[in-house]
Amino acid sequence: MAFDSDLNTLYFGVGNGTPWNPNLRSAGEGDNWFLSSIVAVDADSGEYKWHYQTTPGEGWDYTATQHMILADLKIKEIVRKVLIQAPKNGFFYVLDRETGELLSAENFVDINWASHVDLETGRPVVNPEAQYWKTGKTTFVSPAFLGAHNWHPMSYSKDTGLVYLPAQELAFPYMADDNQVPKNLAVNIGIDTTFSAIPDIPEVIDEIKKMSKGLLVAWDPVAQKEVWSVEYPGAWNGGVLSTAGGLVFQGTATGFLNAYSAIDGEALWSFPTQTGVVAPPISYAVDGEQYITVSAGWGGIFPLISGVLAWDAADGQPINRSRLLTFKLGGSAELPPASEQLRDMPDLTAIDLDPEVVKLGFGVYERFCAGCHGGGAIGGGVVPDLRYSGFIQEAAAFKSAVLDGLLEAGGMVGFGSEISEEEAEAIRAYLIFRNQVAQKLGDTKRLSR
Ligand code: HEC
Repeated sequence: MAFDSDLNTLYFGVGNGTPWNPNLRSAGEGDNWFLSSIVAVDADSGEYKWHYQTTPGEGWDYTATQHMILADLKIKEIVRKVLIQAPKNGFFYVLDRETGELLSAENFVDINWASHVDLETGRPVVNPEAQYWKTGKTTFVSPAFLGAHNWHPMSYSKDTGLVYLPAQELAFPYMADDNQVPKNLAVNIGIDTTFSAIPDIPEVIDEIKKMSKGLLVAWDPVAQKEVWSVEYPGAWNGGVLSTAGGLVFQGTATGFLNAYSAIDGEALWSFPTQTGVVAPPISYAVDGEQYITVSAGWGGIFPLISGVLAWDAADGQPINRSRLLTFKLGGSAELPPASEQLRDMPDLTAIDLDPEVVKLGFGVYERFCAGCHGGGAIGGGVVPDLRYSGFIQEAAAFKSAVLDGLLEAGGMVGFGSEISEEEAEAIRAYLIFRNQVAQKLGDTKRLSR
């Protein structure tokens, strides 16, 4: 949300449509007004002023709830009151915030769902192949549902005129499941997510990792082009702070807080945080002394769901150590040594598995468990990595956690009302299978979660 006191206007972004698959929402047709939109209302009465829909009829989880910045920009010699947003769909929008008129839109990373935004109509020119619900084909669409920019705040510097944007490049294979029956405690998006599981072929894994990256992009909102950028190994790096001192601060998924020159992106300083950082730092002064504080810690949907990609983004050892870190010039405090030890994965390769049962378990896992425990059962450092869990070695223990709610106090609800004992056993078989795959790949050590 953003509030403009001059215009007495409140701006808010609207999320995606759900189920994602438009066939299940509105017979695959229509713009679905106000989804993925920026809406302006009168701050006193709430009365509608205007709206701009970034992704009409969206089907890829392209929210427009991202951070909105109000600025006065000189565009074609006229100073315009603008609203700037870089939503999940990968376009950087500059709107006149008095009227809602679209002034410009350019993609800030490579995307394939649309070729461009038509400035006459204000509508994206959508690539028909990306409309998986119409073609019926599995289609790799970028950005993925995690967006080219997620919730991590960007920052505008009046001094440089640039917007510093925590961006990412990810693609996702969308496959419609028009017959999906909604279930409690499950992911009900009308997409067959078993198609998105990354195959266990090292070359394919490498290829997918190469397609995924994180970026800090310094974007010129008037010229609508990149001025400089910094590349990270993976997505989900932190929100950004730019300062009057000409610095840009950003935490990373790899566990650093970095400072760059706002003008050219030169790396000036870096602090190892012992954990991925997703929140934006803040800057403030107390008694004339300047501080930078960041709420360090690793979490959110990317490490929960994305399995090997989260693993890679965090440089191979994703872990959350939540701490408030504060810095000042001449500060000399040090972090205590990292206490977590590397853990060995139990070796379950001696267990014989029935491939049919593993397959059944895979489907149930994807629908009920992958959203927290990770695609391919690879944990992203926030909740336990189930391939390492003692619970998967014993049917009764597994049942008590998964069906009966033994760990409910820790955030792991019991699924007994939705999943049968047979299905729970099948999930257990699938997890043992994932353990065996990791053993084969020699990927058997991780920090404690
Ligand atoms: C909404 C998030 C979420 C979902 C969905 C979820 N879990 Fe969990 N799970 C957790 C959390 C959080 C814990 C840690 C609980 C604790 O530490 O007490 C956990 C712990 C576990 C454990 C114990 C691991 C250990 O070694 O301590 C097992 C086993 C488990 N989950 C299995 C599953 C299965 C199977 C599914 C799908 C049917 C599932 N979970 C779905 C969040 C989730």
